[in-house]
Amino acid sequence: MYASLRKLFYGRDFLSINDVTGQEIRAIIDFARELKEVKRRGDPHAFCSGKTLAMIFQKPSTRTRVSFEVGMYELGGYALFLSTQDLQLGRGETIADTARVLSRYVDGMMIRTFSQQDVETLAAGASVPVINGLTDWEHPCQVMADLMTVREVKGRFRGLKLAYLGDGNNVCHSLLLACPRVGMDIVVASPPGYGPHEEIIDAARAAAAGSMSKIEVITDPVEAVRGADVVVTDVWASIGKEAEHAERIRVFQPYQVNTALTSHAKPDFIFLHCLPAHRGKEVTDEIIDGPASRVWDEAENRLHVQKALLALLL
Ligand code: CP
Ligand code: NVA
Repeated sequence: MYASLRKLFYGRDFLSINDVTGQEIRAIIDFARELKEVKRRGDPHAFCSGKTLAMIFQKPSTRTRVSFEVGMYELGGYALFLSTQDLQLGRGETIADTARVLSRYVDGMMIRTFSQQDVETLAAGASVPVINGLTDWEHPCQVMADLMTVREVKGRFRGLKLAYLGDGNNVCHSLLLACPRVGMDIVVASPPGYGPHEEIIDAARAAAAGSMSKIEVITDPVEAVRGADVVVTDVWASIGKEAEHAERIRVFQPYQVNTALTSHAKPDFIFLHCLPAHRGKEVTDEIIDGPASRVWDEAENRLHVQKALLALLL
């Protein structure tokens, strides 16, 4: 499996869910599941032996940093954590120049930053693969882990309904692009003015045209959750939106994922959240700590799915 997949992926960037087809998403997830099993058995899997990954962070992180760093180590490679304070980027060196220089040292780059354009500029200037570790626009690695978790629990994608409640943010954008690619229906419910960007909705609808998936963007949280197999939410104020926190808590309250709201979902629904969670805000303890919650598996799957990406792209 590895040799043919590597031929397909070697040298490519992973900046957006738009960069991969539904078939490719399934293939990456299948390989990630194999890597998870290989790790469980304790078998060697040094697919990145002698390789290095530069990890540029312009925003804080727990999961992304640790899962990429540990993942690179487990693959026999080495990861460098580079915060903006550590780089001349913080003192005015351009992203394009940083890309050219780092490409002479490392075999791949992962970046977490604000603007998607910056990630694209880094990739354009780099001669090695670049992976998006979150921008304001998308969080593609997260959504790969989400889909892997859905596949593990439900055994399939086709015909499932995913309901996303709350802010039309980076995670919501990547879910909108990913669900139609694998044949899942997605309904997003957000307060008026806080929905996903039109450009993403159009791209999701274009992806759905080939797959029969339904894409809905509405404001009614009950309608969104009705009959859902997967219920997803995220923080109401993403990194960079902290100043709007108080206002957002007021506006988003009806979108809280709690027992009353999820009573409209299928009895065997699962709950996902990329974390960090704000308990008592977008989700109650009852749900995140309850039987439907798969958030810890979801967090773990970041490691496996990113290892699959690293082993294939670098
Ligand atoms: N879900 C996620 O990306 O978490 P971190 O911000 O901790 O990396
Ligand atoms: N939407 C959140 C995700 C954090 C992992 C944010 O951008 O802050």
